Amino acid sequence: VSNEVSVPSSVAYFCQRNLITAVLGTIKSGKEASVYQCAAHPSTGETYFALKVYRPLRERAFRNASMYWAGRLSRENRAGRAILDKSEFGIHAAIAAWVKGEFSTLRKLHAAGASVPRVIAYSSDSLLMEFIGDAAGPAPQLRTVDLDREQAAACWEQILAAITTALQLGCVHADLSAYNILYQGERAVLIDFPQAVDPGSNENAEALLHRDISAIAQWLRTRGVTIDATTLAAELWLRWRRCRW
Ligand SMILES: Nc1ncnc2c1ncn2[C@@H]1O[C@H](COP(=O)(O)OP(=O)(O)OP(=O)(O)O)[C@@H](O)[C@H]1O
Ligand SMILES: [Mg+2]
Repeated sequence: VSNEVSVPSSVAYFCQRNLITAVLGTIKSGKEASVYQCAAHPSTGETYFALKVYRPLRERAFRNASMYWAGRLSRENRAGRAILDKSEFGIHAAIAAWVKGEFSTLRKLHAAGASVPRVIAYSSDSLLMEFIGDAAGPAPQLRTVDLDREQAAACWEQILAAITTALQLGCVHADLSAYNILYQGERAVLIDFPQAVDPGSNENAEALLHRDISAIAQWLRTRGVTIDATTLAAELWLRWRRCRW
């Protein structure tokens, strides 16, 4: 956690709602989103929350629009048209849809027992959620953690369980990698779901599921564990198609 903190406007919003009391530091300041460690309001019963604030970047808003938005946009409402037309209003509409999508997905997955952060609230550009970490700081990304073969295999079981639960609920992460998994006390927590797709309506879902599993397979290989991503993705997809779990 670094010390230079420029406070985003959503901080006031969540402070007013008695969810947080202060920003303690920046966990990650990215080009597209920044994540802050916040002090939770005492009434919440938590110590910390993580606040993810999206930047209104054109590239993020419309990145791979055709792939991720397939089946989700309609010309029948203003926001849908603005996003499809890539207008100024569309950028903000896209961010808001992005945030709301991530919030809804995380809430659904968490309720079903998948290993993802518990979400607390959202605004037009930010998401407030469970802080994955402890008093010593935020949990590291899986890619930076030194795991032996056995630990990596145990971790993979957790990741596969989360992928399976998500798929059962009609959700493919679509940007999964050892960057978007945090590792806290032997627990793997999947994060970063705004681009998640619904296999019921997105024709690219099967390819994205395969890409997700391949990305993890690549990481597993570096830790001495081999899985057959293609066969596994095909099996999972078949189960999804047949609704047999
Ligand atoms: N709930 C959380 N608890 C602790 N740390 C978190 C949490 N959510 C995110 N982070 C940290 O912030 C980083 C970025 O979060 P996330 O992956 O959701 O955003 P991103 O869209 O990838 O951002 P960018 O595109 O700018 O890289 C994570 O890799 C992790 O280190
Ligand atoms: Mg990420």
